[in-house]
Amino acid sequence: MKRRSSSKRDQMKVALIGAGGMANLVHYPSLSEMHDIELVGLCDLDAQKLRATAERFHIPRTYLDYRQMLDELKPHAVYALMPPHQVFDIAIEVMTRKHALFIEKPPGLNAFQNRQMALCAQRSGVIAMCGFQRRYIPLLDALRKKVEQRGRIHTAVVTFVKCSYPIASYYNGAIDILSCDAVHAVDTLRHLCGGEAVSVAGDVRNLGADDNNAFYAIVKFSTGATGILQTNWACGRRFFRVEMHAQGISAYADPDESGILYKDGKLEGEHFDPAECAGNTADWHRLGFFDENRHFIDCVKSGKTPVSNLADTVKTMELVDRIYHSQIQ
Ligand SMILES: NC(=O)c1ccc[n+]([C@@H]2O[C@H](COP(=O)([O-])OP(=O)(O)OC[C@H]3O[C@@H](n4cnc5c(N)ncnc54)[C@H](O)[C@@H]3O)[C@@H](O)[C@H]2O)c1
Repeated sequence: MKRRSSSKRDQMKVALIGAGGMANLVHYPSLSEMHDIELVGLCDLDAQKLRATAERFHIPRTYLDYRQMLDELKPHAVYALMPPHQVFDIAIEVMTRKHALFIEKPPGLNAFQNRQMALCAQRSGVIAMCGFQRRYIPLLDALRKKVEQRGRIHTAVVTFVKCSYPIASYYNGAIDILSCDAVHAVDTLRHLCGGEAVSVAGDVRNLGADDNNAFYAIVKFSTGATGILQTNWACGRRFFRVEMHAQGISAYADPDESGILYKDGKLEGEHFDPAECAGNTADWHRLGFFDENRHFIDCVKSGKTPVSNLADTVKTMELVDRIYHSQIQ
């Protein structure tokens, strides 16, 4: 993938830690399309992935030790893209050295780790963002704007299901399903409903698995919106679907397929295509990764706080805890 050039003087230096799946599939393809940044270095512990990824994205310097990379390259911003049980130490080190930081979801293993990272970002005075990319999906954004033209969302339903029983954890048991992956749906619910989660009724279940694998909740938000969460890893296939409702208007969306908007009781809806909303057919555009990366880079350049900053994502991880601790009988 060839990067387009622009004057080096105007480019922001970005260093990358991690040459794994998400890095290669969505993040580095997104960054490679931006003219105002320079991918100055890449680090991974795996020499083969390091070489292949550096070649693919034309990254000039490679490292097996990220501290050495930060010492030598002094980047403005750093991506740390590895699983949640591996990211904490790196994130703290990067922010303590006063580099802006981007990490993938989840922001650490739990709310405690997320809070510690948010505190570190605050003390160091750096921009730090977690990539909860559902917030940046162009299809959902377009539908949300249409719905909110009519008024505040009063109800949102987020359904995220997969077929992966009987294993009910990620990374060989390092983290539970709700904190690691179903957390996408929790974060989307917060994003759509707005405000603070005021009260929560949860139903956490183990459906034939080695731990909990289905998580339901009704959440009342301070905006007056009701959020309904349905996540279940013992279903027939993977779906991520969103409903948003305001007075006289409803949107139903699946970012992998399509969206539809209904108004005023009419049976005919207005159709929305995910790639058309993104203006691009590539997965990293359609699914929100390009926009989330652009948002991070813009925030680093302008000093603006990112939407999914680490202090904000604490609220998502705390809502995960509340779902566990609000079991209905
Ligand atoms: N947003 C989404 O839809 C989505 C989807 C899948 C995964 N994710 C998240 O993305 C993150 C990364 O997942 P992945 O599947 O890309 O991981 P991965 O295991 O494919 O890649 C991680 C890479 O980091 C490297 N690494 C680990 N520790 C390192 C260190 N100390 N120094 C240098 N390199 C190191 C590993 O060698 C590996 O190459 C996870 O947090 C996961 O939850 C998000």
